Amino acid sequence: MALLPILRYPDPRLHTRAAPVHEVNDEIRQLVADMAETMYEAPGIGLAATQVNVHQRVVVIDTSEDKSALLALINPEIIARSGEQVCEEGCLSVPGIYDKVSRSETVRVRALDQHGKTFELDAEGLLAVCIQHELDHLEGKVFVEYLSQLKQTRIKGKLAKKARITA
Ligand code: NI
Repeated sequence: MALLPILRYPDPRLHTRAAPVHEVNDEIRQLVADMAETMYEAPGIGLAATQVNVHQRVVVIDTSEDKSALLALINPEIIARSGEQVCEEGCLSVPGIYDKVSRSETVRVRALDQHGKTFELDAEGLLAVCIQHELDHLEGKVFVEYLSQLKQTRIKGKLAKKARITA
């Protein structure tokens, strides 16, 4: 397994639309394992392949407190959604920034698992937020893009300053 470097907003590669996975093979399973290790180490509760500069439709999520519920979603699609919830979100690609985003309260997602088998999952609350957040990454969308232009400009400034200090 290996830790993968995470792209930082406003890196333009975060705006790449990911391509579908054609075959769930060992290479994809290795990617899932590496992404999971990277997510746990960060630490975070979700990571999309886009964030590690792999532009394929692969997401890992674990919203449990003890890292016991790893969920790998390959070619995920939201097939139903309902309600609304507002949650404070953060992102491993936007370190130190948290803000409220409005999302669906529940989602039903269809995806392939690590063996290439199709499954469906009903999610609500934090898991539903996380799924929507990670699927946005696969579309090239970062959560700060739901915020006002003013906030986005401030966030870019803040992160640029931080990059200079840590570089
Ligand atoms: Ni994110």
